[in-house]
Amino acid sequence: MSIVYLNGEFLPIEEARIPVLDRGFIFGDGVYEVIPVYDRRPFRLHHHLDRLRHSLDGIRLANPLSTAEWETLIGRIVAEAEWEDQGVYLQITRGPAPRDHAFPKTVTPTVFVMATALTTPSAEIVTHGVAAITAADNRWLHCDLKTTSLLANVLLRQLSVDAGCAETILIRDGCLSEGSASNIFMVKDGVVLAPPKSNLMLPGITYDVVLELASSEGLASAVRPITDAELRAADEIWLTSSTKEITAVTTLDGKPVGNGQPGPIFKRMHAAYQTYKHQVMRGKND
Ligand code: PDD
Repeated sequence: MSIVYLNGEFLPIEEARIPVLDRGFIFGDGVYEVIPVYDRRPFRLHHHLDRLRHSLDGIRLANPLSTAEWETLIGRIVAEAEWEDQGVYLQITRGPAPRDHAFPKTVTPTVFVMATALTTPSAEIVTHGVAAITAADNRWLHCDLKTTSLLANVLLRQLSVDAGCAETILIRDGCLSEGSASNIFMVKDGVVLAPPKSNLMLPGITYDVVLELASSEGLASAVRPITDAELRAADEIWLTSSTKEITAVTTLDGKPVGNGQPGPIFKRMHAAYQTYKHQVMRGKND
């Protein structure tokens, strides 16, 4: 049985309860993080905690815990979970209050943390990649905040499920923003390209790792807007996230990307990512 943290208590998930008037339930008024854990070592924990602070600031909610308190709390959840590799999910909402759009005068945020088993991409996916479709990015203009108000992402992701695909790649005003639950990279003529961080995409922790690894691999890279036409003419497309790591997209809207197989630069980056992960497990990196 999994132990979760809810508002100061550690308890079995089946016993965790929140009031129906919690603003997370009523308004989606909250933020979250998903932190991968390899061999019981949280991957880039401080980057995730920094992004959490950015999301909390963005919704004007005070951070309920200090960095040291987050470290202790996450450390205990990770230690008590049954898996070596985990995804730690944490969520903070503005808490329970009589229903009113405006913030309640006194706020007691709800804090929830749980671990689940981390399922990284299968050997089949690493070898053959995944299919994706594109769709118009119809989300709001604060996509840099990791909020629990995910209805637009949920509907966009379902479009790819309905099409038998793994991800929906979002296009806004003729340019690539990101995936419904991932960041997107492309390769053209040996250059790794990624859209710049802005209010239109989540600043992915894996996105940063991939750009760092591209540089340490000596690959040419550029962070700049990518047009829809460029994406469709890409030699390689990758998606990145804490749970998908780096995954090749080999079909876009039913057409092969490049030769329809994961490309040579993907293979290098995938290997570099695995090496980096193992360094994290051995405690050489945060
Ligand atoms: N999602 N963009 C969106 C919209 C995302 O939801 C995610 C991750 C990312 C990648 O961010 P990171 O590399 O920090 O995981 C980009 C998580 C995994 C989720 O919601 O489950």
